[in-house]
Amino acid sequence: MDLPTHERWGDLSSKRVLVRVDFNTPVALVNGEITVTDDFRIRSTVPLFKDLLERGATVSACTHFGRPKGRVVAEYSVEPVRRRLEELCAGVELLENLRFNPGEESNDPAFGRSLVEGYDYFINEAFSASHREHASIMIPPTLVPSAAGPNLLREVHAISGLLDSPARPFVAIVGGAKVADKLGIVKVLSAKADTVIVGGGMAYTFESTQGRTIGQSLFDGSYLDECASLLAGGHVIIPDDSRGLALGAPFGPEGGPDDVIDFGANIPDGYEGFDIGSRTIGRFVAEIEGAATILWNGPMGVFEDPRFGVGTEAVARAVASSRAASVVGGGDSVAALQQFGLEDQVTFVSTGGGASLELVELGDLPGLRALRESRWN
Ligand code: 3PG
Repeated sequence: MDLPTHERWGDLSSKRVLVRVDFNTPVALVNGEITVTDDFRIRSTVPLFKDLLERGATVSACTHFGRPKGRVVAEYSVEPVRRRLEELCAGVELLENLRFNPGEESNDPAFGRSLVEGYDYFINEAFSASHREHASIMIPPTLVPSAAGPNLLREVHAISGLLDSPARPFVAIVGGAKVADKLGIVKVLSAKADTVIVGGGMAYTFESTQGRTIGQSLFDGSYLDECASLLAGGHVIIPDDSRGLALGAPFGPEGGPDDVIDFGANIPDGYEGFDIGSRTIGRFVAEIEGAATILWNGPMGVFEDPRFGVGTEAVARAVASSRAASVVGGGDSVAALQQFGLEDQVTFVSTGGGASLELVELGDLPGLRALRESRWN
């Protein structure tokens, strides 16, 4: 995908550049002060800021932060992010939370115009927000010369490169709780990949189309026909067995290892599945080991409870030890990789949860379209 870049602008002395970033980072109260607990999104933008500053530009950045819904809410102020940015890269002004203004989410042209007032250039370095048709993403490219930031470009090229010409066999792994959220991506991938592994809570709806019982596991009856037709297509594979709990058994830290039940292919009434079983792990890992290209989005179980992180960990380790080109996207799979210390062992980790899903599913994003269609290109 061809996107305009900022290298073409040359010397930037006396130019003002606005960079749309995604500094929607996790924060926590540390010693009485709200503090950024994962500064990856901030750190990864520093090279771009330094490049712009060295080329003489005056640089401002803007971001959303949480979901304050168009109102000024103190707890959503970007102040903690601003402090961390200042420590990592002095000399960049960070504007207050874009979502304090209702015009951001309503894609209000006047609000978009006010953002770039007085700026010469705009850079979209917010891949993970580029699936949102919001003013700060959509309007600036219509008003000033605009470019895709280097991290955004890397994300787009990693995902679209992998989908356009994958080395085969191409194995996609899709997990997560809700079949409604992931059915679109399974559909697209079943046409592109050799095998699509489906796990996680979403798999139980697929399993029930085969006459298997799933107890009280996650289920969405409105997708039965689509799940059945995807299975009939022959590229989608689902778990053979699962592990879980009796209804009402303690979950999380209160739960004990003895409560965990290994179900076979069927889960009886009164029980709920939370992870893939050992037969399934063996089969999924073998598929992953045979792959030349891997795309992974979504966990295999409820891995926040370590008793049900076994399947996700096995998949994470298989992906990490594979020599295949591997792209991992989606907040939960990235968190799983980090939890098991494996994030450096895959080819590319996408930071954009919703955005990377939408790019795989639809092949484009509103924010990328806005950059491509800018009349300033
Ligand atoms: C993210 O953290 O995934 C992005 O910042 C998008 O946030 P949003 O879902 O609130 O738009």
